[in-house]
Amino acid sequence: MSEAVELSKSKRQVLLRVDELSKVYTVRRGFLGRKKELARALTGVSFDVRAGETVGVVGESGSGKSTLGKVVLRLVEPTYGRIVFDGVDITRLSERQLSKHRKRMQIVFQDPYSSLNPRMRVQDIVTEGLETFRLAPKGELADRAARMLERVGLDRDVLDRYPSEFSGGQRQRIGIARALAANPDFIVADEPVSALDVSIQAQIVNLLEDLQERFGLTYLFIAHDLSVVKHISDRVAVMYAGQIVEWAGSEALYVLPRHPYTKKLFAVLPRLEAALEQHGHDSAVVAAVGMAFADRQLWGKARKLLEHSAAAVTLPLRVRRRSWRALAQMARDSGDEARALDCERAAAALE
Ligand SMILES: Nc1ncnc2c1ncn2[C@@H]1O[C@H](COP(=O)(O)OP(=O)(O)OP(=O)(O)O)[C@@H](O)[C@H]1O
Ligand SMILES: [Mg+2]
Repeated sequence: MSEAVELSKSKRQVLLRVDELSKVYTVRRGFLGRKKELARALTGVSFDVRAGETVGVVGESGSGKSTLGKVVLRLVEPTYGRIVFDGVDITRLSERQLSKHRKRMQIVFQDPYSSLNPRMRVQDIVTEGLETFRLAPKGELADRAARMLERVGLDRDVLDRYPSEFSGGQRQRIGIARALAANPDFIVADEPVSALDVSIQAQIVNLLEDLQERFGLTYLFIAHDLSVVKHISDRVAVMYAGQIVEWAGSEALYVLPRHPYTKKLFAVLPRLEAALEQHGHDSAVVAAVGMAFADRQLWGKARKLLEHSAAAVTLPLRVRRRSWRALAQMARDSGDEARALDCERAAAALE
């Protein structure tokens, strides 16, 4: 068999499969937590991820994306269902049995500020997993960390520094270096760019793509931002209230969204893409805000982004006015007159 055929075959091999995953959290409320309430975070979620591909997961806040990401890694235990990783059912493995598979599965968190221990040096953050799994002798840790940092575009001289000395984008690079340290096959990236400045987001997405190509990584990529997911994913799952309501190749989903929620998310895309084409880089802000705008719960975030983010406030006034007007139009198109007026007022304030 030729090498090319073998490669495409291995590309199609399923690396992760989940069947009927459900997660019910028990939340204690009331005096001394006597009242118990159940929160259904996931209900009957099934899908697979092939080796070397990126599966995107989108959905509004609270739809169960992070729970899904954590359950597939068994950082959170499923209430029901099955997780098969590389042909092995890992659902009921003990911690000890699991550790040999776990090092092949890693996570990159949303918030690079809270996910890095401020009291640990960069070297120790990056190699913590290697020590836990005894994957490298102590004497080699510094070199190993330096190699991982080089992979994410950071210099060896950051080894002895602390997270607080770095910007958001650099911290996320450190978080990615930590995920890479054990040479994983599979990475859950849980909104890896949403806490970052718009101008930095593309750099981190590009880095993740380069790493995927270099090391044959497989991603479950969680995001709010449909434009990011569409760009990076081979297939996309749309989640709503703990369920996958739509599942398709990202192009197919784009052309033909079926579920009302997906339709709502996608309704704003053509306008945004047209804006991007017309105005170039400046409109990245329009795009980011618009994506957020598509999700009602993120409206507050969207406003803040456009009013205060470093990327937005350095833009020329006319571009910011245009961004608000584009949002006003989107709000009007979706029948939200109150928000349309709000956006127009914000545009007028910049006259
Ligand atoms: N540890 C927990 N205990 C109780 N309920 C939880 C817990 N974690 C999540 N939930 C609930 O499960 C649901 C799904 O939460 P999850 O964090 O997975 O959503 P999400 O899609 O990642 O949201 P976001 O976009 O805000 O990150 C929510 O209703 C949430 O309140
Ligand atoms: Mg989340």
